[in-house]
Amino acid sequence: MDQELWQWLVETKDEPLEGMAEFFDARLAEYETHMARWRQHYQWMAELLPATVTDLLDLGCGSGLELDAIFAIRPRLRVTGVDLSAQMLAKLRQKHVGKALHLVCEDYFRYEMGESCFDAVIAFETLHHFSAIQKETLFAKIFRCLRPNGIFLECDYIAQSREIEELLFAECARRRRRDGIDEAVFVHFDTPLTLAHEMDAIRAGGFQTVELVGFLPGDAHTPLIRARKCGL
Ligand SMILES: C[S@@+](CC[C@H](N)C(=O)[O-])C[C@H]1O[C@@H](n2cnc3c(N)ncnc32)[C@H](O)[C@@H]1O
Repeated sequence: MDQELWQWLVETKDEPLEGMAEFFDARLAEYETHMARWRQHYQWMAELLPATVTDLLDLGCGSGLELDAIFAIRPRLRVTGVDLSAQMLAKLRQKHVGKALHLVCEDYFRYEMGESCFDAVIAFETLHHFSAIQKETLFAKIFRCLRPNGIFLECDYIAQSREIEELLFAECARRRRRDGIDEAVFVHFDTPLTLAHEMDAIRAGGFQTVELVGFLPGDAHTPLIRARKCGL
């Protein structure tokens, strides 16, 4: 197993779990500096958005680092951003005054995405906290809300093996039991799936075409996946 991950598990084993929104609300000040390492990935996602996209849904948009890159090349795009953290959304609003930006402070598993409302849905570094079963339901909602030929782009980090995936879920469950936190409460603890498992969950959501776009040089942990809803 990855030495760095093992060390992190050992060092944090007695730390209490934090709720998802509370975690991000509390880290707003340093958040964008911390995420600067993904600059090229944000750019990459922006460039992969087809020119035909007019309505975009960003799940777990946070303060909108991917949207900074997207608006730089597509300033007139209509964007709906959904996030649990009110503080992150406030920061995003501040950065993009005057843009067609509809922000919703809600859990994206509960958010009513509608049917055939968007040309593209994106999720950047937000889905690595959930199980395959939770994601399959979400992917089915994403599939439904896309128009024919619509695409879903996901860029997130993956578990390097099934063993690591299972270990992280088991450790999260242990910490939940220790802290008396119910399964239904979102906590900030990373439980990524393997690439194959993630892509299978997207297929189970109804997508006919699911492809690995690739990895950026020097980063074998963060793939970009593209799924397409075929034209009717
Ligand atoms: C690591 S941040 C990524 C934010 C942004 N996509 C970026 O790359 O800068 C993860 C975001 O997902 C949000 N999030 C996690 N679970 C969520 C859920 N169930 N519903 C809505 N937002 C969620 C968090 O509040 C946080 O803002």
